[in-house]
Amino acid sequence: MTVRPSFVHSCCAPSASLDPFSAARESSAVRKGIESASVATAVRYPSARKLASLPDLSELKCASSHCEIVMTEPTGYDSWADLYDELYESAFGAMYSSMTAGHLRLVADRHSKVIDIGAGTGRLSIALARAGRAVTAIEPSAGMLRGLEKKAIDAGCRDRIQVVHACMHDCVSHPSVALDHDVAFCLFTTIHHVLTLESLELTMTAIARALKSGAIAFVGVHPRYVFEQFRGGMNQSVLIARLGGTVQWTQSAVAMQGNPHLLDTRCVLRLPDGREITDLLVTRPWTVEEITSAASRANLTADGTAGMIGTEEVLRFVKM
Ligand SMILES: C[S@@+](CC[C@H](N)C(=O)[O-])C[C@H]1O[C@@H](n2cnc3c(N)ncnc32)[C@H](O)[C@@H]1O
Repeated sequence: MTVRPSFVHSCCAPSASLDPFSAARESSAVRKGIESASVATAVRYPSARKLASLPDLSELKCASSHCEIVMTEPTGYDSWADLYDELYESAFGAMYSSMTAGHLRLVADRHSKVIDIGAGTGRLSIALARAGRAVTAIEPSAGMLRGLEKKAIDAGCRDRIQVVHACMHDCVSHPSVALDHDVAFCLFTTIHHVLTLESLELTMTAIARALKSGAIAFVGVHPRYVFEQFRGGMNQSVLIARLGGTVQWTQSAVAMQGNPHLLDTRCVLRLPDGREITDLLVTRPWTVEEITSAASRANLTADGTAGMIGTEEVLRFVKM
């Protein structure tokens, strides 16, 4: 049983209509336009000041712990958590709901207890809870968690979701997190916010510990082209390609000092209606092999893939 070494997956490749990146990929003019707009607005753009007040990530050392970066406030997601759902739903369109449906199908057993790592505003946690599953939602961004809780209350399923404010690599050290889940999810860019090999191994160990023996973990990995063609700024590229507006890149796909594997992406997005988003993301384009090998050291055996779901390949692991 092997995990394929590349992301090419002809039978499950996203169709053009569901591929959120197609608009931007097809038209390099769009991106050129974005870049020249950035240059044109760089000097007089008032929000540039907001970026200056954010922590300079390049000064942080990426040695043993990435968590201080992730938890630095505001994180990339905290700064625009209130707009996250609205923007993602419009930017990713039909792909967004079909992706959730695809993830739901991976949990056939109604009695499954699921841990959703990097749950965000609850896209999947809430869908799972509404379908009757008991869910543990792990999320380090307070802003994203607020969105999740509000939506869960509105959906009438708050009582089926345990919310845990934590990073993925040490989530099981939280005393209230049970160690008998049937399924773990770590999806939709979340694993790419792990920045060091040590943290990746800690994360895989935490996922394994949260699962009962024989349970399944699904980990989503973005294809390399997402990082290469979108300069690490896929949020911004997709949002701008789909919604219009302008983006002022202040730093994009820059390898952080001391670690050439990391992409430091920051920008200010201005939406057509005048709203602004200051985005600050650091990601690492892990490969399938890197994730699989960290998983195997954590007692999670590769069990193939659930294919391309949405924008990423969903790897499947079994807890031994
Ligand atoms: C693009 S969102 C995806 C949310 C959700 N998994 C989904 O599929 O819709 C990525 C999420 O990963 C979270 N994240 C970033 N670093 C994390 C960490 N160290 N531990 C857990 N979650 C993290 C972010 O706060 C954000 O909510």
